[in-house]
Amino acid sequence: PLPNAIFGEDRINSAGVDLSDPLVREPLMKKLAKLEAKHWTAVPTGGGKGEKVQIAAPYDTSLIVGEATWASEADVDRMVRAAHAAQIGWDQLGGWERARLLNRAADLFEQHREELFSLCVREAGKTVPDAVLEVREAVDFLRYYASEARRLCGNVTTLPGPTGELNELRLHGRGVFACISPWNFPLAIFIGPVAAALAAGNAAIAKPAEQTPLIGARAIELMHAAGIPKAIVQLAPGDGRVGAALTSHPLIAGVAFTGSTDTAKAINRGLANREGPIVPLIAETGGQNAMIVDSSALPEQVTRDVVASAFQSAGQRCSALRVLFVQDDVADSMLEMIAGAMEALNVGDPSDLTTDVGPVIDTDARAALDAHLAELKSKGRLLAEVRLPGHAARGHFVTPSMYEIKILKELDREHFGPILHVVRWKSGELDKVIQAINATGYGLTLGLQSRIDTTRQYVEANARVGNLYVNRNQIGAVVESQPFGGEGLSGTGPKAGGPHYVARFATERVTCIDT
Ligand code: NAD
Ligand code: ALA
Repeated sequence: PLPNAIFGEDRINSAGVDLSDPLVREPLMKKLAKLEAKHWTAVPTGGGKGEKVQIAAPYDTSLIVGEATWASEADVDRMVRAAHAAQIGWDQLGGWERARLLNRAADLFEQHREELFSLCVREAGKTVPDAVLEVREAVDFLRYYASEARRLCGNVTTLPGPTGELNELRLHGRGVFACISPWNFPLAIFIGPVAAALAAGNAAIAKPAEQTPLIGARAIELMHAAGIPKAIVQLAPGDGRVGAALTSHPLIAGVAFTGSTDTAKAINRGLANREGPIVPLIAETGGQNAMIVDSSALPEQVTRDVVASAFQSAGQRCSALRVLFVQDDVADSMLEMIAGAMEALNVGDPSDLTTDVGPVIDTDARAALDAHLAELKSKGRLLAEVRLPGHAARGHFVTPSMYEIKILKELDREHFGPILHVVRWKSGELDKVIQAINATGYGLTLGLQSRIDTTRQYVEANARVGNLYVNRNQIGAVVESQPFGGEGLSGTGPKAGGPHYVARFATERVTCIDT
């Protein structure tokens, strides 16, 4: 099949919301204020009688955003069976009709975007600008995968053969996909894999993270309102036990997982040992992302890009910068500028537009990050930290901090929050920096700040990472423009928002006709 550009697609990414325009911003903030009183619910599709859980705002745990009902094992079994029975009809609808329904869902997401912004802020603790970006990405995934449904499943590919023989290749859904997502992109990464599974002709059971079931529930309601049958896309709220019940179900035909590397490995082991067919696992996991700065880099640009990459979204992006490698002869001046820029960061309530850094997601995340900070206090050298607001004790706030450490090996794993580590590197030893980065085994994002072409070429050729960003920040991959995903401990690929993604959710069938 031809790429979309050649296939005549005219899709463009969504425009989002211009928060710098007061005529747009002020009415939006009023609508968000009104939505603050709304109580949301999440229940398994078709109903459920499992445990009920209150969902509190991460920035103020006295604010209850809504209530979720976890799916029981019996609910999971009922949902998978209903999806399995309905999937063939969905597959037979064909790529064009599935694309129409996914595009309709994208329109509904845009029409209801204030609700989705509000849920991103209240349930996940996202700042308003981050919430806007999240909804844009979700809409872009829906429309892009709709266009992929037409390209890949909307036509037959004729293959070469001798005269008198016709060979045809078609893509079909595999069956029922379990789509298991994390809390840090509770809408975009929740709906992206679901949309891809549906585009390819599968039914999907969507399991949101236990921290963010409410926005997932609203998203699935909008998918149903768009006309996608209830059996074809279903919500299974719950914790890891619900995820495990789904992935071990014998009627599951594929798993699309985004989350930690440890959970991906546990799912992989489970899939290998279960009864039934061999099914694919698409896993997008964590990173130990670095940025390399050399002496040719522009200090103001480095400062802006480091602060955005490490502290936007409170560092809770898989793409976020964790380890800054600065060339020793410019290190002192660069680090001083970055520390100065950190002083200007506002930590606080994410619904306030002046907030730059919101809370982390929950008590466990805060405890793990605080324990790491305590360790850094004795092992590392504090370069900067940002003061927390007076109300921090009401929620889960972690002090955004920058610490110098001696070598990257001191970090044994990803620390998923607003903590930046700094390592100095000696001129002439770029190869050692790349070796150290590759030796982590992760390979998600890498930033490079350098004006030297040969340095860029060396890094491109030697760094084993999925997304390399040169002279810019390293977060916020754009659907279709920067397909996103890593290698090694960071995931299996294919890249989300890229031209090979939807095909991995499909199975290929060839018909050979003797004419
Ligand atoms: P997590 O692994 O704890 O949970 C992710 C999901 O898996 C949740 O829905 C959880 O309920 C479920 N789960 C837990 N145990 C399970 C099991 N045994 N079987 C099936 N499902 C199970 O991750 P998290 O804390 O929610 O997310 C943060 C992690 O996600 C970070 O490591 C981050 O780097 C990664 N992430 C990666 C990407 C990417 O695109 N590469 C994007 C976002 C987040
Ligand atoms: N796709 C997200 C980013 O690039 C994770 O920040």
